[in-house]
Amino acid sequence: MSILVTGGAGYIGSHTVVELLNSGREVVVIDNFSNSKPEVLENIKKITGKDFKFYKINYLDQKELEKVFEENKIEAVMNFAGYKAVGESTKKPLEYYENNISGAIVLLKTMQKYNVKKFIFSSSATVYGEPEQIPITEECKTGGTTNPYGTTKLFIEQILQDLYKSDNSWDIAILRYFNPVGAHESGLIGEEPQGIPNNLMPYIVRVASGELEQLSIFGNDYNTPDGTGVRDYIHVVDLAKGHIKALEKLEKEGKGIFVYNLGTGTGYSVLDMVKAFEEATEQNVNYKIAERRPGDIATCYSDPTKAKEELGWETSKTLKDMCKDSWRYIQNKKGANID
Ligand code: UD1
Repeated sequence: MSILVTGGAGYIGSHTVVELLNSGREVVVIDNFSNSKPEVLENIKKITGKDFKFYKINYLDQKELEKVFEENKIEAVMNFAGYKAVGESTKKPLEYYENNISGAIVLLKTMQKYNVKKFIFSSSATVYGEPEQIPITEECKTGGTTNPYGTTKLFIEQILQDLYKSDNSWDIAILRYFNPVGAHESGLIGEEPQGIPNNLMPYIVRVASGELEQLSIFGNDYNTPDGTGVRDYIHVVDLAKGHIKALEKLEKEGKGIFVYNLGTGTGYSVLDMVKAFEEATEQNVNYKIAERRPGDIATCYSDPTKAKEELGWETSKTLKDMCKDSWRYIQNKKGANID
């Protein structure tokens, strides 16, 4: 039996494939490389010393997808395929709705056809909109997303709830990620946004490496300890391990639809991040204070108690690990070595 991973060459998908292979599972990956590169697959094999099956297909193509289900015994599906750039989603809403929502529907219909009913979905803390309370628990109200990317996550969660209501033989885990950062400690896989990054950590890395001149800190007048925005940054390897724990739950106990926050439960400000990065890597990060970014909230961090109690999952990587690993990946890409 294999685990099918859609978007397995992407940032979070590739780290999860590593953990799946390390846990001794058979893996089948599909990806169309719309935002990733084939070399990632080779690097996963280098890290794990294990092989897996790969199909270069678009998950919107039901015929091709059916071939994957025909040719393999799929036990469960983890869905990482999808567009994820917040800014771009406001300019191309139809592309985002089509790719993320129609893609998920095609995938679920195909699963239904082949009677595969274990599904793990990559959701986001963005579904909480302006959070009802901090730290955020899974019971907090969802809605009020501020961009089409976030709305695709919200809609797919609703689709999954409706699907489960219609047929409770599905086993579904919805994982709400907080702010994934870092890279595998091998330096072989990591995050590589195309163009100028929107997210904080990739931006810091590019300023430190001299590719970008200066970080703009979006606002220092928020109601937070130092005035800059506070987030729950989580190391991508910890996040990937959360998926294995969720899969184990579906395999062992099954029968239900479960929602988990995957975060550390600790909030760090933008200035904390800059300082931590400088200390961990001994690089200088040039920054200035700029206007607030529209759509941003002051504070967002998780209460991860439910995942700890029900999945036995906890994060173990530190902020220093997150900074060092992000930096190592970029240095490795350039052929240099910092250790
Ligand atoms: C954003 C998305 C979220 C997505 C997540 C992926 C929004 C509203 N939310 O979260 O849907 O799941 O990315 O990780 O866009 N910052 C700066 N300067 C920069 C970049 C960021 O000061 O150049 C600040 C932001 O104002 C914020 C913090 O850094 O306080 C984190 O920003 P970012 O990495 O973009 O993540 P989120 O906005 O939390």
